[in-house]
Amino acid sequence: MRKKIVAGNWKMNNDLSETEHLLEDLKGQVIPNEVNVMVAPTFTNLQFAFTSLKNYPIEVAAQNMHQDQSGAFTGEVSAQMLKSVGVHTVILGHSERRAYFHENNAVLAEKVSAALQNEMNAIYCFGEELADRKGENHFKVVESQLREGLFHIANSDWKQIILAYEPVWAIGTGETASPEQAQEMHQFIRKTISEHYSEAVADNVSILYGGSVKPDNAKEIFGQPDVDGGLIGGAALDAKSFMAIVNAF
Ligand code: PGA
Repeated sequence: MRKKIVAGNWKMNNDLSETEHLLEDLKGQVIPNEVNVMVAPTFTNLQFAFTSLKNYPIEVAAQNMHQDQSGAFTGEVSAQMLKSVGVHTVILGHSERRAYFHENNAVLAEKVSAALQNEMNAIYCFGEELADRKGENHFKVVESQLREGLFHIANSDWKQIILAYEPVWAIGTGETASPEQAQEMHQFIRKTISEHYSEAVADNVSILYGGSVKPDNAKEIFGQPDVDGGLIGGAALDAKSFMAIVNAF
């Protein structure tokens, strides 16, 4: 059975005291039982967030990790390090990582494997750019992001995978995909997985939508049959707006 998930990607925002304040605000809110809620603070605040949220139904996720276990990779963080501070879920392949840090599908395939080997869950992000959509290439682009970055995994690995479809043209721009555009792509994603794996795998994976999800558009987007929740950027930085989204199913 797939789950309803709302994950807040804080990106490079919130120092330690801002993290503490936002977490306190979140802890003051009621979280519906049927929604899995996650927040992804920056690396330096993961351990603090994990400790602070210990008795709350909010999971802490990381925004990235390196594909190797350890070694001479200055500035990088491994799965083992994340797990040692209580983190068991990692966002991989966010479009900002792909665009600014040159992460391609091949590297992401290695990161996905590293997450699986370390018994971590991965939120695998992908989505087309504006030019792809204008050129009507968006299905092709999404299919190759799935095939090259993810389709090396085994049937049984899918229980550790969450998908996040994030059209790049909708991230941080205030422009969202229409609910119909989101549904059309999510349905395509499920069909593609069903063809490569099985209908059961496709039915059971949670597919989140990301890109300018706000309290006033979340309900319509989450109401689509193949949308299981959202990966939230800007609106996750305020407890009230994040919780309004969590409650939008
Ligand atoms: P946004 O970001 O909600 O600010 O558009 C979404 C994301 O980048 O995950």
